[in-house]
Amino acid sequence: MDLMEKIVSLCKRRGFVYPGSEIYGGLSNSWDFGPLGIELKNNFKQLWWKTFVHGRDDILGLDAAIIMNPKVWEASGHIAGFSDPLRECKLCNTRLRPDIIDEFHNSKVQGVGNVNPKSAFIEQLTCPKAKDGKHVWGEVKQFNMMLKTHLGPVEDSASVAYLRPETAQGMFIDFKNILSSFPKKLPFGIAQIGKAFRNEITTGNFLFRLRELEQMEIEYFISSPKKDEEWQKYFEEWRKEMWRWFDLVGIDGKKVHEHEIPGRERAHYSKRTIDFEFDYPFGTKELYGLAYRTDYDLTSHQKYSGQDLSFHDQETGESYIPHVIEPTWGVDRTLLAILLSSYYEDEKRVVLKLKPYLAPYKVAIFPLVANKEDIMIKAQSVYKKIKPQFTCIFDGRGNIGKRYYAQDEIGTPWCVTIDYDTLKDDTVTVRDRDTAIQERIAIDKLDNYFNQKLNII
Ligand code: GAP
Repeated sequence: MDLMEKIVSLCKRRGFVYPGSEIYGGLSNSWDFGPLGIELKNNFKQLWWKTFVHGRDDILGLDAAIIMNPKVWEASGHIAGFSDPLRECKLCNTRLRPDIIDEFHNSKVQGVGNVNPKSAFIEQLTCPKAKDGKHVWGEVKQFNMMLKTHLGPVEDSASVAYLRPETAQGMFIDFKNILSSFPKKLPFGIAQIGKAFRNEITTGNFLFRLRELEQMEIEYFISSPKKDEEWQKYFEEWRKEMWRWFDLVGIDGKKVHEHEIPGRERAHYSKRTIDFEFDYPFGTKELYGLAYRTDYDLTSHQKYSGQDLSFHDQETGESYIPHVIEPTWGVDRTLLAILLSSYYEDEKRVVLKLKPYLAPYKVAIFPLVANKEDIMIKAQSVYKKIKPQFTCIFDGRGNIGKRYYAQDEIGTPWCVTIDYDTLKDDTVTVRDRDTAIQERIAIDKLDNYFNQKLNII
């Protein structure tokens, strides 16, 4: 089994991530986050909020609607330009995105001589419908990735609406509202965590490329720069913050690389973009992005809405459209990168070496033996004492070694065992997940012990 297969299997077996709609044969690239997956995801989303919203004075939070007025997407350029190249076989209508074909088949197909592996792959695909087994590819077309729906009972062009393809636009649309409720000086930012939807042509690689995804985004508004250095300064600050985030969540920094996106490949709104790429087992690919969106979005929304979206600077008396630096983090890719970075195995055990504050359970409580009533009662009382403060699980089944290994596999940092000595002196054994070292701690000192370890953020 390769690492991806091991992660996918662990995720399903231990309740992190299940295939979506599984009893109906599944749905291509839809995944459900199980009891442990949602805990892990909530923990890093809260950490993100704590770091960038609560931890700073210059960023405010927002939770905007997923379905917005369709004019938003005209103004943002998504209806005209949010598309991917697509090639369709004239015989069987197989549709493929030429630029990402390597993501799932590169290993099987080698380019020969000057032939690029992607083109080689397209040519070598066998078609079940054609006589010679070959596809007959049409021209490359542009395919819009917005997910469309209709609002209300009548399905006509007037009722068309879209599920947002990025959370970012909510921050531009509410920019003026937020400024009037919370007068702010520039620079200041608006942050949002939420779902976005993209009708990706080709999905795959577990949580990597989804149609229903989640983002954590910040639009950081700065004054209109007179020189490049003015926006570059903030761009550099956010670049450092993104590196700090990798450390905070335990994403292996050695596997992260910055990729400067050349002009012709940048999104229509961007004057500069850096992708933070991660070495996934299936290749080095985008994890996060950092873009200088200029004043593109607010200028465009001002034009389409007819509303004044300028910022009035009280100190200089000037009014202008602010510019924007946008750091963006994909939630699902974060989860995947955390799992890949924390997976460890040796001959004896599999361990998810998650940062303790991200672990779904912080503590597991074990009675040494399940058939001794006084030990069970004591273990239950420790469990009740710990549970209000730390996410906690009680396990009295099977032998203690197996119970340790089961907790290692889901990343529980500490296992507490209640044994015969506990009945005499009110101490318990605390075993550390990573070192397997055991310490004897008094029950009334456990709160302090865990709090101290958890506060090293
Ligand atoms: N607001 C800017 C924006 O949406 P993006 O690079 O298209 O930029 C931002 O997306 C992040 O969202 C990516 O860096 C990635 O982490 C995540 N993302 C994008 N498309 C995705 C998909 N199909 N599945 C999972 N995550 C995706």
